[in-house]
Amino acid sequence: MEDFYSMPPMADKALISEAAIRDRVRELGAEISRDHAGRDLFVVGVLKGAFVFMADLIREISAPLHCEFMRVSSYESGQSTGNVRIDFDLTQSVAGKHVLLVEDIVDTGRTLRFLLEHLKTKGAKSVKVCSLLYKEIDPDIRPLIDYLGFTVPNEYVVGYGMDSDGLYRSLPDIRTVQKG
Ligand code: IMP
Ligand code: MG
Repeated sequence: MEDFYSMPPMADKALISEAAIRDRVRELGAEISRDHAGRDLFVVGVLKGAFVFMADLIREISAPLHCEFMRVSSYESGQSTGNVRIDFDLTQSVAGKHVLLVEDIVDTGRTLRFLLEHLKTKGAKSVKVCSLLYKEIDPDIRPLIDYLGFTVPNEYVVGYGMDSDGLYRSLPDIRTVQKG
């Protein structure tokens, strides 16, 4: 049987290798642990894309933490926080808590701006953002990311939790793919 992931276009060389991801996740975890020593942390993962990254990241954080998830979808709109819809919200209150928002990738930053606003409205004491990837589309967005894994070119990427039409989330590395 032919291996699905070795067929074109997935035969492309990986943009970020499994080893590079592992090393960077370890560094991010150490940095987050240092900054949050002695604090109770609410880690909020954005489904579905961030679930693989979050699973690895939390195991590199030494601070005591709770895990929460949100699911949002976005649709076309010119507004910076426009047209993001919550499909699945927090199940515990984050009021007065230190929140670490975990994203797979920040592209236009619309989702991130919306989520930051949402968590502020919910009364979080502090919100830090950890994104594995950042696409350098809008330079105003970069300062919103406190912990960043890698900056990537403006191409569609898959793997390590990220999908194209629902596929490729299980790839252990990150690859570019033609969207179309
Ligand atoms: P933004 O609101 O434009 O920043 O995009 C937010 C979400 O779109 C990300 O959290 C991803 O879930 C998804 N996304 C954006 N670019 C990519 C990509 O290249 N590959 C996979 N998902 C992406
Ligand atoms: Mg996402």
